[in-house]
Amino acid sequence: MEERSSFSGRLGFVLAAASSAVGLGNIWRFPYLAAKYGGGLFLLVYIILVVTFGFSLMVAEIALGRKTGLSVIGAYKKLDKRWAFTGVLSAIIPAIILPYYCVIGGWVTKYLATYIQGAGEMAAQDDFFTGFIGNTVPPLFWMSLFLLVTFVVVLLGVKKGIEMASKFLMPLLILLVVGIAIYSLTLPGIWEGVAFYLIPDFSRFSISLVLAAMGQMFFSMSLAMGIMVTYGSYLKKSDDIEKSVKNIEWFDTGIAILAGLLIVPTAFMFFGGDAEKIQAGPSLMFITMPKVFSSMGGAGQVVGLLFFLLVLFAALTSSISLMETVVSVVMDRFGIGRKLACILVLVYLFLLAVPSSLGFGVWGFIQVAGMTILDLFDFLSNSLLMPLVALLTCLFVGYAIKPSAIAQEVQLSSQFKREKMFVVMIKYVAPIFVVGILISSILNSLGIITL
Ligand code: PHE
Repeated sequence: MEERSSFSGRLGFVLAAASSAVGLGNIWRFPYLAAKYGGGLFLLVYIILVVTFGFSLMVAEIALGRKTGLSVIGAYKKLDKRWAFTGVLSAIIPAIILPYYCVIGGWVTKYLATYIQGAGEMAAQDDFFTGFIGNTVPPLFWMSLFLLVTFVVVLLGVKKGIEMASKFLMPLLILLVVGIAIYSLTLPGIWEGVAFYLIPDFSRFSISLVLAAMGQMFFSMSLAMGIMVTYGSYLKKSDDIEKSVKNIEWFDTGIAILAGLLIVPTAFMFFGGDAEKIQAGPSLMFITMPKVFSSMGGAGQVVGLLFFLLVLFAALTSSISLMETVVSVVMDRFGIGRKLACILVLVYLFLLAVPSSLGFGVWGFIQVAGMTILDLFDFLSNSLLMPLVALLTCLFVGYAIKPSAIAQEVQLSSQFKREKMFVVMIKYVAPIFVVGILISSILNSLGIITL
């Protein structure tokens, strides 16, 4: 048996967890959801969810991993055999997310290539994006390229290299996001958009807003899919869990809010302040950002190139951690080596990524409950399976092993300041909340109610 490696220290852990957490979820998904669900109110609901529910779940997952020293399937099994299925269920989720993650990763790669060629102006044209994703071969080509890079890194297992690189590129990402956000705040007429993004309009409250915010929280914080359990198993007993979680959640949320700040108000402005007209879907980042860069003149080319380079890097570190999880589950489950597992996973990913990509073009006629194939995968993982796993985790921690088991693990290295909130969240608030959300989202997809 190989000895279990551990992070060099708390900083190494926080950075590794943050580079898994910060990805397309922050820069691509968060801004378009915020735009779709009425800006400020979405932001408010999201932040409340992160510091209560997200915090509690992340503490629980990391502590579960550290307590057992095992990754997700083993961790549940070791503590209580009857709950092993929860581990299995969590391990399935990355396998649903990753194929469509690679499709979006492919789009980012294509944009980077366009800026490298100096053709940023082209990318700023109105039908560039829809023309590109509606095509057949080009998006498949870029998706495959993104997938291949992910595959090669996971195959080589250069975990250290990625960690090293994220130490440099993460700060650069922050600088760029802050820099472009500041620039966009100087654009004329922007403040109306900023107000739309930041000031909550309570009349827009809806269950689907809460559902979307919760799904986003799981996705962005890499929760309810076993990743944090695995990361926790590498954490030293002396490292402060509560502090680490606070660092990760603020880092992740901060980047998402900033990305929203540079995308949502500018989109709002481009569409003449008509919130209905903002194309608040997956295309938001790809349509609006090139326009912003183009309005910067010559410098826009360089900024655009750097922007998409960093988005690509954030996406890659996340896709690598997703693929690493799937590969390690396959290796353990079937008792096969890394190479074979990587190849099997690659074939599987490709088979699912192709329809996700074609769903925007020739297979556009395939729609389930009004969703494209990519949206459907996104809905299945973020709105159904992740809430379900979160619910099971809460029940497991709240009633099977009891919150005190987690609290003891946290207290091995520090005080557990938010213990009371943790217990109330895990035992009562979160489960009731998630059940309500799950039921309404199932009724909605069956067409029984309309959210
Ligand atoms: N949290 C990542 C993002 O925001 C996605 C992800 C989920 C990555 C799970 C790894 C594991 O893009």
